[in-house]
Amino acid sequence: MSDNNFYITTPIYYVNDKPHIGHAYTSIICDIIARFKRLDGFDSYFLTGTDEHGQKIQKSAEELNISPEEFTDNISQKFVDLAEFLQLSNNDFIRTTQKRHHKAVKDLWQRLFDRGYIYTKDYEGWYAVKDEAYFAEDEVSKNENGQMIANETGAEVEWMKEPSYFFRLSEFTQPLLTYIEENPEFIFPNSRRNEVIKFIEQGLEDLCISRSSISWGINVPDDKEHVIYVWLDALTNYLTAVGYPDMESELYQKFWPADIHVVGKDILRFHAIYWPAFLMAAELPLPKQIVAHGWWTNEGKKISKRYGNVIDPIELVNTYGLDQCRYFMLREIPFGQDGDFSKSAMINRMNNDLANDLGNLGQRVLSMIYKNMDATIYDISNITDEDEALLNKAYDLFGIVKQRFENRSFHIAMQEVWYVVQAANQYVDAQAPWKLKKEDEKRMKVVLSVLAEVIRILFVLLQPVLPIGCEKMLNIINVSDRSFTTLNSKHALKKGHKIEKPLPIFAKYVEEVKE
Ligand code: MSP
Repeated sequence: MSDNNFYITTPIYYVNDKPHIGHAYTSIICDIIARFKRLDGFDSYFLTGTDEHGQKIQKSAEELNISPEEFTDNISQKFVDLAEFLQLSNNDFIRTTQKRHHKAVKDLWQRLFDRGYIYTKDYEGWYAVKDEAYFAEDEVSKNENGQMIANETGAEVEWMKEPSYFFRLSEFTQPLLTYIEENPEFIFPNSRRNEVIKFIEQGLEDLCISRSSISWGINVPDDKEHVIYVWLDALTNYLTAVGYPDMESELYQKFWPADIHVVGKDILRFHAIYWPAFLMAAELPLPKQIVAHGWWTNEGKKISKRYGNVIDPIELVNTYGLDQCRYFMLREIPFGQDGDFSKSAMINRMNNDLANDLGNLGQRVLSMIYKNMDATIYDISNITDEDEALLNKAYDLFGIVKQRFENRSFHIAMQEVWYVVQAANQYVDAQAPWKLKKEDEKRMKVVLSVLAEVIRILFVLLQPVLPIGCEKMLNIINVSDRSFTTLNSKHALKKGHKIEKPLPIFAKYVEEVKE
């Protein structure tokens, strides 16, 4: 398999409610990584979709007195619309209600069964419909209303007893530990990796992988009484989308195993324990990395429908702009940790980093070139040490940013870019081209042309994060080749290169910030 293929996935989203900031966050992070890889010469395959089976969805549909099909069609469409609205570059949108997925799940089940990893027995235990998961006796307790709840998630649990199919997860305790140890990159970040190891070290119990109490799901092969556990069903989506069970298909050959599954910390366990265990049992290759991100709070408070503080991503983007939200999400929190959304932090990033630092740099330099140099780039083969120092900073940036992306330190990658943005702004102030205009016009032309070149580098490099602004800017400076192979002096703007009339790229948020 060629090394130039890259497969990244979001979790598939539950359709029991409309999309919120958490969904937009995961999707945007994946989109940024997918775009980065494409510009870096990879054939990048980006998957997102919806998780549509299970008791929770069946219940929600019943409450509305509509069929689960109608219910899931409606809400899945909201996620399709969100993907479009966020201009995600996803290559596919999978729905677990699709035929191709049913086929894949049944096939995976059969592989597990044929290899002796599935058996039947009676199951009883505390089941949380909200989490679609069973909890052990020591994982539940009574809340203040006398209702039994799962300690970890707060979800109500009920005692369930059903004849069930089991997966021999316990047999994978040691193989999983060995695998995680031998592949230190498998789970990111390290703190979460340690949590997973600790959990596995306690010993894994066999997993109940069927439900007889519900009908909204994929039937166990040859047994109409049971549907397949929704997590086994859902996790398989990553295989379905690349053509499984046809392992000779072009997509499967190119993209399996996946490079990254990006997930929220709450669903890491399913991805870092169940999923690799299913794949090991099925003798299929494991994804290369499971990346867990943190959770957003709203102005310091946990986001919950109960508090009425759910952030609607559409409203967010309509208020601040898409590039602005993408940048904020990437820049504001160390990836992997929890982060807080606050209006003042958002406006700060939008106005200072984007409008002032980056936007104004472009605007003032290009306006001067447009007005004072007949919109034409000058020769920069004869330059001073200061010029060269700035250019080198810009040319070195790609290597640094790429490294940071590989380490998933996205916020530091942005910091590194902004060091160069700041260096460029300092250079503008120090060189004062507006003064040179009268004193030394030739020097002014060199200075502004050096800056135009730095701007080219910055905006080519920032395309994955700020696709809209970068497209506008690269149109203004008339750069047609925008791939990362151009991030060097060989592709520098040439003498005589013409630019278009500059326009402001990043608007400022004008409303006064209330203290
Ligand atoms: N359907 C499962 C995933 C199956 S993947 C095979 C699911 N869906 S979900 O819709 O509930 O959650 C999707 C993602 O949104 C999760 O990764 C979750 O962590 C993320 N978020 C939900 N709320 C969030 C925040 N407040 N902040 C950041 N992300 C959060 O789980």
